Order: sequence, then C-alpha cells, then structure tokens
Amino acid sequence: MTNQVTLIEHPLIQHKLTLMRQKETSTAKFRKLLEEVSMLLAYEVTRDLPLEKVSIETPFATMDAPMLSGKKVVLISIMRAGQGILDGMLRLIPSARVGHIGLYRDPRTLSPVEYYFKVPSGVDQREMLVVDPMLATGNSAIAAVYRLKETQPQSIKFVCLLAAPEGIASFHAEHPDVPIFTAAIDDKLDEHGYILPGLGDAGDRMFGTQ
Ligand code: URA
Repeated sequence: MTNQVTLIEHPLIQHKLTLMRQKETSTAKFRKLLEEVSMLLAYEVTRDLPLEKVSIETPFATMDAPMLSGKKVVLISIMRAGQGILDGMLRLIPSARVGHIGLYRDPRTLSPVEYYFKVPSGVDQREMLVVDPMLATGNSAIAAVYRLKETQPQSIKFVCLLAAPEGIASFHAEHPDVPIFTAAIDDKLDEHGYILPGLGDAGDRMFGTQ
C-alpha cells in the first residue's frame, strides 16, 4: 500500500465540516462538531479491523459471534489540536490505548520541535491511528510518524479532517507506507502554512485561544 489517500465523503461529515469552517461558529459548537465528525471518521477508518469468532451465550442459545481480535487499537494525538479528534474517537472506541506526541511549529522555519512523547507499551501488536485535524505543510505529521515508527507499531494510519495537497505530497514523499484518511482536500497553503480555504487555526478554534 503506497501513497494511499482516502477521502471520506459521508454526507454527515461534509455537512458538519462546513459548519466548522464558518467563522461565526462558536468555540463550543466547533468542539462539539469536531467530536461528532471524529466519531464518524473513527467508524470509517476502523472498517478493516480484524474480527474473530468467539463462543457466547445469548438468553436463548449459544453461538459463535464476531468480536475484534488482537490487541486494542492505539490512538496517538498530535498535541494540541489532535485532542479534539482523540476525544471523539474515544467515544466510539473507549478501550483504545492512547499516546501523545507534542510538537510545535517554529513560526520562522515552520519546522516541528518535539516537546512531549508518551506512547503505551506493546504497540508492536497494535494498529496505530495518528490523529491531527490539519495536514498543512505536513512537517509535524512527518516528524511525528518518524518518531512513532521507532516504537515499531504493527501498522499506522494518519487521520485528519482537512489536508492541503502540499501536505499530502510531502507526507507521502517521506511515508509512502502510511495511508492518509481525510474528510476534505483543500486548495492550497498560504504563506504562513495555513490551509486555504480551511477553517482557521484548529487549536485556537477548539480551545478559544488566540
Ligand atoms: N494548522 C491549523 O490549525 N490550521 C491550518 O490551516 C494549518 C495548520
């Protein structure tokens, strides 16, 4: 699997994303919408999780019924904006393990600088979903995935809300083996590395900072 990009075009996701883009959408509403969209994204990106049959007893009979097999998924939030997607996904996958990676973008060079890294054990037997709402320049995502590959996860998927074509190209130039799942691919980046038309600064809109 190389350079795979999956555009998740579910109507509910597209509708909610449009509400999130609107500048008059409040912080509370933005946060709620991000949580809802993230639940829908989680539904889509976990489609191929392996199942195994286990023997259970219903009130009337025994049966072999499907359950998720293997170790729990691990969700990795790229701080701080990844937190919004993480919260939504955890509502759907409450037993997922969680890791965090903290990177900030140097405003001059736009390069990522790591300030926090904590990942659960046993990731070699877990599917890893790396989440960040915005794939803009791709610099943070590229650095995060390089760092996470050091923990040797069983597999990695990158999940975002919005991606810029430049970010997708840069990311896949470095990580062709990591599929990208996104709800939209926007036009381009501006000179500050923000996505156009985009939705603004996801962290600021989610947390009411600025
Ligand atoms: N990060 C954001 O929050 N927004 C962008 O448009 C780009 C990066």
